[in-house]
Amino acid sequence: MIDPDQVQDPNYAFKHQHLLGLTDYSADDIRFILDQTTSFREILDRPVPKIPTLRDKTIVNLFYENSTRTRISFELAQKRMGADVLNFSALASSTKKGESLKDTIRNIESMKIDMVVVRHESPGAAHFLARIVDANIINAGDGAHEHPTQALLDMFSMKQRLGQIKGLKVAIIGDILHSRVVRSNIIGLTKLGAEVVLCGPKTFMPVFVEDLNVKVTYNLEEALAWCDVAMALRIQLERQEQGLFPSLREYHERFGIKMDHLEKYPNFVIMHPGPINRGVEMESDVADSDRAIILNQVTNGLAVRMAVLYLLSGGSRV
Ligand code: CP
Repeated sequence: MIDPDQVQDPNYAFKHQHLLGLTDYSADDIRFILDQTTSFREILDRPVPKIPTLRDKTIVNLFYENSTRTRISFELAQKRMGADVLNFSALASSTKKGESLKDTIRNIESMKIDMVVVRHESPGAAHFLARIVDANIINAGDGAHEHPTQALLDMFSMKQRLGQIKGLKVAIIGDILHSRVVRSNIIGLTKLGAEVVLCGPKTFMPVFVEDLNVKVTYNLEEALAWCDVAMALRIQLERQEQGLFPSLREYHERFGIKMDHLEKYPNFVIMHPGPINRGVEMESDVADSDRAIILNQVTNGLAVRMAVLYLLSGGSRV
């Protein structure tokens, strides 16, 4: 059987210098990265899961916001590939003395670096760096804009569990308005032919939702009855202070995935980018159930990041 998620252009070649978002990537670019990720996933299952293809590269992980999964998996990916790795944390740097992002990156670049992985609270921070330095830039999350490697690992995890992306029904539930994960997932999933439904409180829906090529429901039962994948998004607790929902208890009541839902709708799998608020986005038992693939997402994140680093550094095919 032909796999609809395989690269379709027989003359396809990966030609990107940066990964700033999935907006600039074609469907075949995404398919190619997912295909290469399969090879890196196999390497990770070997007794010695190393491939020293970045031996001559120096990579800086430039993190202005907190992170557990993304920062650690990028660092591990870089080390598994033999790179020299430098970790920059804004909290322990001269940023605290007022140094700008521009000056910070110019100084770091003077030390001869090859790649930068950046997480920043400002949308467009990765694009800004790409304009002022020669190094490859990878966006590890910029404000509420994009988080491309998260969407790639999400798509890889869906394909691994459910066979193909094309035609898949994906419900994304929660704080749509403030989520960079949802933005990158909508772009990637719709390019590969999946259907996306957004579900959450009206106050969490962007006004431009009609332009996104997705459907919307405010009814969780309707979304769960329809979907193959239910992806819950983290509720940022400070949104309650902004009056965007009345209480965590009420949010959980209306939009939290519960064990009863798993019995009632026996087919959908559960995803979450992390970190989870247990008892808010889903009951704790739901997160730990065999319907959840949340920890597989984390494992696959390592393989996706290896594939992205490899391709941007000039690798053609593993
Ligand atoms: N999914 C994700 O971006 O998690 P971290 O914030 O821990 O990196």
